[in-house]
Amino acid sequence: MVKDLDLITQFESGIKTIDRTFFDINELIENVFDLLEMQAIKNKISIGFDREYTQSYQVFADEERIQQVLTNLIVNSLKYGVKNGKTEVSLEELNEEKILVKISDNGEGIAEEHLPRLFERFYRVDKSGNRKAGGSGLGLSIVKHIIEAHQEKLLVESTPGAGSEFSFSLQRVTKEVRSTQD
Ligand SMILES: Nc1ncnc2c1ncn2[C@@H]1O[C@H](COP(=O)(O)OP(=O)(O)OP(=O)(O)O)[C@@H](O)[C@H]1O
Ligand SMILES: [Mg+2]
Repeated sequence: MVKDLDLITQFESGIKTIDRTFFDINELIENVFDLLEMQAIKNKISIGFDREYTQSYQVFADEERIQQVLTNLIVNSLKYGVKNGKTEVSLEELNEEKILVKISDNGEGIAEEHLPRLFERFYRVDKSGNRKAGGSGLGLSIVKHIIEAHQEKLLVESTPGAGSEFSFSLQRVTKEVRSTQD
């Protein structure tokens, strides 16, 4: 938690910068599935892609930070999910330059009144603190800082009792980006 807070402070003070490289987003997502497999089994929630992707998408972003974003979002879906639930990641081409990564769950969902403050540090929906899966409320704040540092979009949609969808955009590798950065 001290590490999480430290990272947030670094982003807010502008010390923390992002370090972009070219990488395969499908591969990174697979790695995160592997790393979280045990936790998913423990929580009785299946994690995976929404469908088979025959095409791999190259992106230009900070791989370590995007791994952290994926991890924080998927761990949340496991923590606030339902027994025998399902978490799916989908990839959508927005246009030539952008790809949308979406993490959907069929968990408890989040009431609309909480959505405006959801990404604030320490904000938790259940403040009683007696929930078994209690956290510190920093995960989504970190997600927001990382996506903003990439100058990308972060969206949330949720329906209580039905589930939540968190999505963010990433820069796809176009010929132009490659030729100016390589
Ligand atoms: N997928 C989800 N489904 C339902 N509620 C969620 C989901 N993701 C986040 N939340 C709600 O948003 C709150 C904030 O999430 P956040 O990840 O910032 O904190 P946390 O999970 O409580 O703690 P931390 O991530 O620091 O361990 C959570 O406490 C939870 O109430
Ligand atoms: Mg969390």
